[in-house]
Amino acid sequence: MSRVFAGARPTGKLHIGNYLGAIQNFVALQQEHQCVYCIVDIHALTTLDETSMLQDNIRDMLLDWLAAGLDPQKSILFVQSHVPQVMELHTLLSMVTPLSWLLRVPSFKEKARMQPQNVNYGLVGYPVLMTSDIVLYKGELVPVGEDQIPHLELAREIVRRFNSIFGPVFPEPKPQLSEAPMVLGIDGQQKMSKSLNNHIEIAATPVETKKRAMMMVTDPQRIYRHQPGRPEVCNVYRMHQFFSPNDVQRVYHECTHATIGCVQDKEFLGEQINKYFAPFRQRRQEISTQPHYAADVLADGARRASVIAQETLREVKEKMGLLTRNTR
Ligand code: AMP
Ligand code: TRP
Repeated sequence: MSRVFAGARPTGKLHIGNYLGAIQNFVALQQEHQCVYCIVDIHALTTLDETSMLQDNIRDMLLDWLAAGLDPQKSILFVQSHVPQVMELHTLLSMVTPLSWLLRVPSFKEKARMQPQNVNYGLVGYPVLMTSDIVLYKGELVPVGEDQIPHLELAREIVRRFNSIFGPVFPEPKPQLSEAPMVLGIDGQQKMSKSLNNHIEIAATPVETKKRAMMMVTDPQRIYRHQPGRPEVCNVYRMHQFFSPNDVQRVYHECTHATIGCVQDKEFLGEQINKYFAPFRQRRQEISTQPHYAADVLADGARRASVIAQETLREVKEKMGLLTRNTR
């Protein structure tokens, strides 16, 4: 039984990319592992210049997690800043992390390009904070989407360096990818992401979901209704593989024989997504009407996470020579 750790930034409601790329695995891993899942509010601050939405976003994310099947009896669900030891560990790990490693990270370069007016110190240290998240809980398996792989490679390098200088303390964390590690957005070209506004929220209403599905780009070469389509390049077809497993062969046949048009195909996908998430949406609605439930889950999660965090931090400080004999 390995310890599982994963974090997600509270950017609002989950979308299909988050769900297929990560959350589905969060849920599945609970059966066989001890799982720690963290809403990383401090990471969110690296890109926010306006923080008034943060608390609502944290609540939305937790409701999505619970409705998707994360079980607070089994797993530890908490908010990053509620267990402040992670910031101490971040400072300590920053001493063994060469700046050159951080400046090479693709997400840093991309964010620096996207927000040139706010290339803050926290943005450079983002992967060190992410490493601190994982290793504070001695996480071994990390369910993430493909975009997080460079961060995890760096986390492993930091761990190796720390262990070689101070002795073995941390396991090397390994990524756990899902069968959909990079879901494309409704534009059919870029990674589905809230910031690109090419996403479909899993808690959206059936009407919104259908509207977004109808906006999806299909095979760009299929212009006329009588022309056969190419499912292998079509993002709608890719989605059918997850949401319409029983109909996917029929869809393939009808598309390649031009007996179904893209409009009809997208209508069907919208219905299938709605069907798939109907129980999720029902549960989310129920949980959201229980007044203290979300706050209680997070308070209990922080309590349980703190116990592990304090123990690890003490071990780290001892290894790094920060504790005298008397304080040991
Ligand atoms: P984020 O909302 O960017 O913090 O992502 C939360 C988790 O969802 C991370 O593990 C991401 O790798 C994953 N994720 C986000 N977008 C996608 C996507 N389009 N396809 C697959 N996984 C994704
Ligand atoms: N960087 C991750 C993302 O953008 C979020 C994250 C923070 C994370 N700490 C983590 C993911 C630890 C896995 C493990 O999605």
